[in-house]
Amino acid sequence: SDKITIAIDGYSSTGKSTIAKQIAKHLGYVYVDSGAMYRAVTYYAMTKGLIHESDFNAEALIYQLDIVHINFKFNSELGFAEVYLNNQNIEKAIRTLEVSSFVSKVAAVSEVRKKLVAIQQQIGKNKGVVMDGRDIGTVVFPDAELKIFMTASAETRAQRRYKELIERGDDVVYDSVLKNVQERDHLDSTRKDSPLVKADDAIEIDNSNLSLQEQFEKVLQLVSMTI
Ligand code: C5P
Repeated sequence: SDKITIAIDGYSSTGKSTIAKQIAKHLGYVYVDSGAMYRAVTYYAMTKGLIHESDFNAEALIYQLDIVHINFKFNSELGFAEVYLNNQNIEKAIRTLEVSSFVSKVAAVSEVRKKLVAIQQQIGKNKGVVMDGRDIGTVVFPDAELKIFMTASAETRAQRRYKELIERGDDVVYDSVLKNVQERDHLDSTRKDSPLVKADDAIEIDNSNLSLQEQFEKVLQLVSMTI
């Protein structure tokens, strides 16, 4: 049957990407982590000294946006595409708490969103794509055939993210991770341009008490009802 577009939006650390990757693999679709693109621009701003403490020089970033090249390259060993900034693989560098703590400020800049949304729409123009983020069902692909909105309690999400960071060897404390998750949710939901909001036609899944297998089956069931 014909390929569809699957949009998965939701709060930080709801496990959107894990499920999106599994579903894409199962269907033979392309998986796109739109958050990685906002993280890549944030990483760029950090390395260029445009972010100091809580100070962020948005004007300078906007001025340089034309020379910020972001793309994905499929890694067959990992089974998904990794994000590149100006030809450098930054997949690992963008997953730090430092990037997480600035990304929502960078993502609130309209010029940044405009640039990244155009790339996302280009990647998804032939359908057969699973994209996760905050505004995929509302702004990037408002006509997506299947829209999912993932939620879970802030504590559940912080616990998951904390475990992930510790496992990769980062020196973090749980309270900072929880604070970051809550701050990002607040900034993402209250920004003027493309705030995080459930699309009217999105199906909400609260996965606080669902295993990965249960979430996978639930989404797959929704897919088969859509196709
Ligand atoms: O998905 P992830 O947590 O990696 O996204 C990082 C940040 O990027 C989010 O907190 C949000 O500020 C921003 N983002 C966005 N729109 C998207 C995806 C991510 O604003 N579609």
